[in-house]
Amino acid sequence: MSSSPAQAIYLRNYQAPEFALDAIDLTFELDPQATKVSAEIQVRALGENRCLVLDGQDLTLLSLAIDGRPLDADEYQYQNDQLTLLNVPSAFCLSTQVEINPQANSALEGLYLSNALYCTQCEAEGFRRISFFLDRPDVLSRFTTKLIADPQHAPILLANGNPIAQGTLADGRHWVQWQDPFPKPCYLFALVAGDLVCIQDTFVTQSGRSVDLQIWVEAENQHKCAHAMRSLKAAMRWDEEVYGREYDLDIYMIVAVNDFNMGAMENKGLNIFNSACALADPQTTTDLGFQRVESVIAHEYFHNWSGNRVTCRDWFQLSLKEGFTVYRDQAFSADMNFAGVQRIEEVTMLRSAQFAEDASPTAHPVRPDHYMEINNFYTLTVYEKGAEIVRMLANLLGPQAFRQACDLYFTRFDGQAVTVEDFVACMEEISQRDLSQFMRWYHQAGTPHVQVQGQYCPQTASYRLDFQQATPDTPGQTNKQPLLIPITMGLLDAQGRPLPLKLKLASGEIQALGLQGVLELTQAQQSFEFIGLEELTEAPIPSLLRGFSAPVKLSFPYTPTQLATLMAQDTDAFNRWDAGQRLALDTLMPLIDAQVTQIDLAQDAPMLLEAYRALLTEAEHTQDQAMLASMLRLPSFAYLAEQYACIPVEAIEQVRQAMRFALARTFYPQWKALYQAQISQQAYAPEATQIAQRSLKNLCLDYLLALAAVPEYQQEVYQIALTQWRTSDNMTDARAALTLLAHAPDASWGRDPLAEFAQRWQQDALTMDQWFSIQATRPYADTLQQVQNLLQHPNFSLKNPNKVRALIGAFAQQNPLAFHQISGAGYAWLADQVIELNGFNPQIAARLVIPLTRWQRYQDTRQTLMRAQLERIQAQANLSADVYEIVTKALQ
Ligand code: PHE
Ligand code: ZN
Repeated sequence: MSSSPAQAIYLRNYQAPEFALDAIDLTFELDPQATKVSAEIQVRALGENRCLVLDGQDLTLLSLAIDGRPLDADEYQYQNDQLTLLNVPSAFCLSTQVEINPQANSALEGLYLSNALYCTQCEAEGFRRISFFLDRPDVLSRFTTKLIADPQHAPILLANGNPIAQGTLADGRHWVQWQDPFPKPCYLFALVAGDLVCIQDTFVTQSGRSVDLQIWVEAENQHKCAHAMRSLKAAMRWDEEVYGREYDLDIYMIVAVNDFNMGAMENKGLNIFNSACALADPQTTTDLGFQRVESVIAHEYFHNWSGNRVTCRDWFQLSLKEGFTVYRDQAFSADMNFAGVQRIEEVTMLRSAQFAEDASPTAHPVRPDHYMEINNFYTLTVYEKGAEIVRMLANLLGPQAFRQACDLYFTRFDGQAVTVEDFVACMEEISQRDLSQFMRWYHQAGTPHVQVQGQYCPQTASYRLDFQQATPDTPGQTNKQPLLIPITMGLLDAQGRPLPLKLKLASGEIQALGLQGVLELTQAQQSFEFIGLEELTEAPIPSLLRGFSAPVKLSFPYTPTQLATLMAQDTDAFNRWDAGQRLALDTLMPLIDAQVTQIDLAQDAPMLLEAYRALLTEAEHTQDQAMLASMLRLPSFAYLAEQYACIPVEAIEQVRQAMRFALARTFYPQWKALYQAQISQQAYAPEATQIAQRSLKNLCLDYLLALAAVPEYQQEVYQIALTQWRTSDNMTDARAALTLLAHAPDASWGRDPLAEFAQRWQQDALTMDQWFSIQATRPYADTLQQVQNLLQHPNFSLKNPNKVRALIGAFAQQNPLAFHQISGAGYAWLADQVIELNGFNPQIAARLVIPLTRWQRYQDTRQTLMRAQLERIQAQANLSADVYEIVTKALQ
């Protein structure tokens, strides 16, 4: 917790460092409560300044010397997290010794203990809690690290780079010294010490070097590492093949720890992972979990180039490494899985969660220009919208030029700390395009709206598309300028056949685009005219924003018939799915506005009825279960909520359930047959085809269980779910069945299965997290009482971020009915948890409070109640900078 009041830091005040710290030699004498950290730092002044100011937080200073001479009390000052050394020489060796307390570190930043394991987390500014240093990413040093510990407690001692020496001391402690040959910023420093086992493999790089791969875990998790290892090797190969990037050290280590604030961390040669993102086995991990491990392993590996070899000049540039690396891991996942569905899932998350962030009090540009606490900026905007920006660049340049531009970026800036401008300049240089307007994507917050109208003129056999773009105001930003928005598109005739695109340019020239083209919007209003449509007898159907070619909200006045044609015929998988989403929104929203409680499909939703009939009819023959499952899934609560300025919580939930019920009942035989057709005798494997089949099967199960309260179906659907729960050999199917049983209106359906689950998995922390989540998301108001009870459960701990997310996070973010219950009890309870967490883990507290900051999107009663809780939090003494920044923004 910061002792001084939180203050904003501005990008425009950036100043280059005045000292280089060329090398640092660290020695750790590990002890749970009194770890001694000695550092020998080679310092070199870069200019005239001889006053060196180092960062240091919660450090007990033991000694300080320059070139071996201990400093007098009047030669330095340590206050407000800064160590100031007056009149230093132009080049010298600084020796510092400090003491820190890993056991008391509950913020999980710096050096801390997770169970009995010592580990570190230094990004963004955690290294200053370990040693005095210039804790900023543009200071790169060569690190050596010597770890000394009791061999009983910490037989394994790991740090970045290669082990170069080891031994035993007279007092029985052992030590290992590591050296990292690559200069790096201190946020990439890591150490791990404890009782771990490892699974090993090797990887031979494209140039023929052999790399040792090691995954270190607690002994009981050894059987859960195979998938991570497989994923790592696939990622290493992929980065060589797709980006020409080779790994650079002789050893690559991954460690799984239970207590971790985020997903994982790309420390050089020594990644530290939240065990939830590294461990997987069929018994306890769902398909989604397997896919997450695959993508996070790849993400951290890809950082070795996009982040480590080329790093960020300052934290405002965070998206330089994160947006780029997410783009890279998404492309990898698309290659490992079904690309169409992979894209659908990315966009689903972007449109429901990132768009919501962009429309909230915490909205910020992909490259923010100020912050109070950088930890608050590891957001969907920096990561996911940042990835969309890189995707647009890749599409604007085309695959070859984009690869060349990336090569240029990696070569030119290898070993340097750079900016977003440096990255985009490489794109400009290779493509010979001026991307200055494109840069606005990095500066302007908010989701652009693109409105499109079509004008068909039979006389001239032409079709004109009129575009308007606008980006709404966001906190601190008004008068947004037009962006460069690439619209990948095609035209279909009324039967759904693709039409050749002949674009009429301003010069009068005709440009033939083939069957698909990219229109580049650059102005607030812009028109494009297509000619040569003599064959047509009615207006063509535009298929716009294929593959979601830009992170915008696009509207076009489609008729339901046009949407049905796109759904069935478009060549672009994403747009086939999106046409279905539009049709569902157009159907559901009027019903939500009318607050209907029962739906007659033939009357209220004739087109949707036909669309489902068509999908279910061809279902028997489909080769693409993954796509079918996506097409048959109704828009989520979150996506529906995003369509409303004022979110009608109960009506959305009610209509969604009514629609699910109506579809379930109308197509009961089809759901049942399709469900049974997906039951497989194959042994479980987390591979794309099987995953697709299970997702379709469990979607069918979801529809079947919609009838849990109807007497004529009740017994049958109960038995189907119970049988799946009892007989499945994998967590994907078991969890799907358990969730539906536990969420059934009759609470007794879930009672035994939940107890069985707890009985079986109580020793397995990650698996119990799922048990907490299933209960936290039960869609009834009385869930609050159950969640309150679960806080006291012996397997729950507020100190473990995964538990907090599984129980409290899931309740606040995925249980709208219970969280938003009109009494305000859900809000008050969340605020209690935020206040408590603020005292020991500010980062997690600041993330947990986010749902309350969205108060403007709810009706008056809720607004008042939510604000009252924010004010109560704001009034707390000892508010961390993390929570203070978020709450203050929310109340402005
Ligand atoms: N840099 C990590 C990643 O994206 C995320 C992270 C940030 C982890 C801060 C811990 C702390 O891969
Ligand atoms: Zn990352």
